[in-house]
Amino acid sequence: MTRKIISVALLVCALVPSFAVGAGDHVKLDRAPVNLNNTESLQRGAALFVNYCLNCHSANYMRYNRLQDIGLSNKEILDNLVFSGGKVGDLMKNTMDAGEAKVWFGAQPPDLTVIARSRASEAGSGADWLYTYLRTFYRDASRPTGWNNTTFPNVGMPHALWELQGEQVLKAGQMQADGYTASVEKPVLAKPGKLSALEYDRAVGDLVNYLVYMGEPAAKSRKTIGLIVMGFLFLLIPLIYALKVNFWKDIH
Ligand code: HEC
Repeated sequence: MTRKIISVALLVCALVPSFAVGAGDHVKLDRAPVNLNNTESLQRGAALFVNYCLNCHSANYMRYNRLQDIGLSNKEILDNLVFSGGKVGDLMKNTMDAGEAKVWFGAQPPDLTVIARSRASEAGSGADWLYTYLRTFYRDASRPTGWNNTTFPNVGMPHALWELQGEQVLKAGQMQADGYTASVEKPVLAKPGKLSALEYDRAVGDLVNYLVYMGEPAAKSRKTIGLIVMGFLFLLIPLIYALKVNFWKDIH
């Protein structure tokens, strides 16, 4: 009898944490089209980042001239991406006073250098979260900024890309997940912006691609070096085998 009670108790202990994890993950994330080999996409993403995000956020661990990695020359970087008389070797700092931002938005805009790595969850990668988040802003008059977001409810950030996307509103709809259907409210385009829905998705894809690159600028060269090292070790096999045969030949 006591054994039974103990095993039931253990079972409950084992199950409770998994319920807790499941409960927070109700948001379905869309797959971000990340491709670090697509330099054009990375360049477009960098331009969007500098124009639309850097006024509030910083990327304090990233220098502008590192963008040479994605195929830009120092002159191109200076002419197109560095504002306010900055230098090409500067860090991507923002101009906003942190204390003021807290007063205006109720929260401080976090540094975005490694944001694509910090938001990974069971529901998807950090890139998927960002790709979904930047496409799910909607109009909400009850919020101080006039904007809300289904991926990050009651977020303090206004919709920075609204001119491009246009304005969405919440509409009742159906969502299917894990074999059941639930009625949910989802953002639907009410007033178009400068871009079509498809173009907007592409632009956000570029931006997220850039954010992923910025989280680890050396990722590409790291992989290349990894392959070279593996290749080298592979070539070493016959040599080492020959050595072994040579060393043991007198003993056998
Ligand atoms: C007008 C200022 C402003 C602009 C412009 C802006 N943001 Fe924000 N952002 C904020 C604030 C404030 C927060 C904090 C919100 C909160 O915690 O409620 C935030 C939060 C975020 C977060 C969530 C961070 C986290 O994990 O909690 C992400 C991601 C983000 N911003 C990305 C962007 C991107 C990408 C852009 C450019 C397209 C951008 N932001 C432009 C003000 C801004």
